[in-house]
Amino acid sequence: MNPRIPRRRSLLLSAAAAGAVIAASVAVVGTAEAASTLGASAAQSGRYFGAAIAAGRLGDSTYTRILTTEFNSVTAENEMKWDATEPQQGRFTYTNGDRILNQGLSNGAKVRGHALLWHAQQPGWAQSLSGTALRNAAINHVTQVATHYRGKIYAWDVVNEAFADGGSGARRDSNLQRTGNDWIEAAFRAARAADPAAKLCYNDYNTDGINAKSTGIYNMVRDFKSRGVPIDCVGFQSHLGTGIDSTYQANLKRFADLGVDVQITELDIEQGGNQANIYGTVTRACLAVSRCTGITVWGIRDTDSWRTGANPLLFDGSGNKKAAYTSVLNALNAGGTTPPVTTPPVTTPPVTPPTTSSPPPAGSGCAATVSLNTWNGGYVASVRVTAGSAAINGWTVRVALPSGGAVTGAWSATNTGTTGTVAFRSVDYNRQVPAGGSTEFGFQGTGAGPAAALVCTAG
Ligand code: G3I
Repeated sequence: MNPRIPRRRSLLLSAAAAGAVIAASVAVVGTAEAASTLGASAAQSGRYFGAAIAAGRLGDSTYTRILTTEFNSVTAENEMKWDATEPQQGRFTYTNGDRILNQGLSNGAKVRGHALLWHAQQPGWAQSLSGTALRNAAINHVTQVATHYRGKIYAWDVVNEAFADGGSGARRDSNLQRTGNDWIEAAFRAARAADPAAKLCYNDYNTDGINAKSTGIYNMVRDFKSRGVPIDCVGFQSHLGTGIDSTYQANLKRFADLGVDVQITELDIEQGGNQANIYGTVTRACLAVSRCTGITVWGIRDTDSWRTGANPLLFDGSGNKKAAYTSVLNALNAGGTTPPVTTPPVTTPPVTPPTTSSPPPAGSGCAATVSLNTWNGGYVASVRVTAGSAAINGWTVRVALPSGGAVTGAWSATNTGTTGTVAFRSVDYNRQVPAGGSTEFGFQGTGAGPAAALVCTAG
């Protein structure tokens, strides 16, 4: 694996100088008693301090001791990714993801979800899909996983690493990108519909300063905010080398000024003469930006890190605190701005109860009910198909749309037509519904939602 650590070209500030600049611009709030753990000291200014954790390490007592003592947020390092949660299409496995979730919740920690859609760590079946089939599968994945964890996740990395490195500021080529430029907003809308309480983040690396890549993302977030696409936060991975860009804090601030939270999501810093200082600089940068709500380090001990040999974390292989740890703790205890209290969704009204439905299935046949999550100019519809007193093998749901409305995407069903009366047909994995059982599909549309009761036909 190649750590994608940028070779810093210029503008490397000494950490001490960066710290001086930051300190000058921070309105420091009360420092109270110095706390003795990372989580407790971050909490003093209303923030979290988290770690990425691996289910396979939870049996290691040194690991879990540090985890439960020091951190008040956890992120699944791999266990909630697409290849882990949907290894076969339509077959979801949450065993290890749930272990991370329960570890966090039982310890009173926030849980960050990572990551719903990413060009990497896709299951083989998704890698071989393209076009509408991939788009539908991707949106279904977002819907299913976010629904499974509904109400329990503090923030989801809905889309991870969708921008290209280098100077273009453009999207990265990927199978997801080739389904159409709107794949990211479709994912955010589906995530909001599935879990209205989770903060929805875009997450990326090499965005640790004002540069072409971070500016490309900045422009996307600004566009999303202006059009009401539900985005609440941006994650800055911060896999750093031996220096830090002088615009690190200013970059966080410009995103925060767009009206989103910012989070340091995967922090690790190459060990070298400056490691401890740079850790302090990053911490102070977050504390200085009121909408920077927390920091996550990407592992606990150096030996837990994906960056073999870089020793980039806060604890050594034996679990001892490093100088970098002390630097972070001191920075946290020095205090910082207080994040505003924000509760998502900020751009979308809450899910509304079913608005239109066909009669309950009497005898054989099927019925369909729809729940809408609307925003200005569009909606996500979640449809439940319920079989009557007999099992069904295939179903079609007809939806009458108002004039001017159109379907822009569907998941777990194939649509015929996009305007007027649109027919949604079952797909292989949800065709068979047992007597009295139900299945779900969804679609996204422009304009108002369905104009009349849905009509379900079995067979
Ligand atoms: O669990 C298997 C093990 O059974 C097998 O023997 C071994 C053989 O290679 O592989 C193990 O799985 C590895 C897994 O980490 C768990 O250790 C995978 O091969 C390996 O690819 C995977 O790497 C992860 C990497 O994402 C994949 O892209 C790293 O742990 C994880 O830290 C890293 O995290 C990413 C973030 O998600 C996104 N940002 C960058 C960050 C670092 O690359």
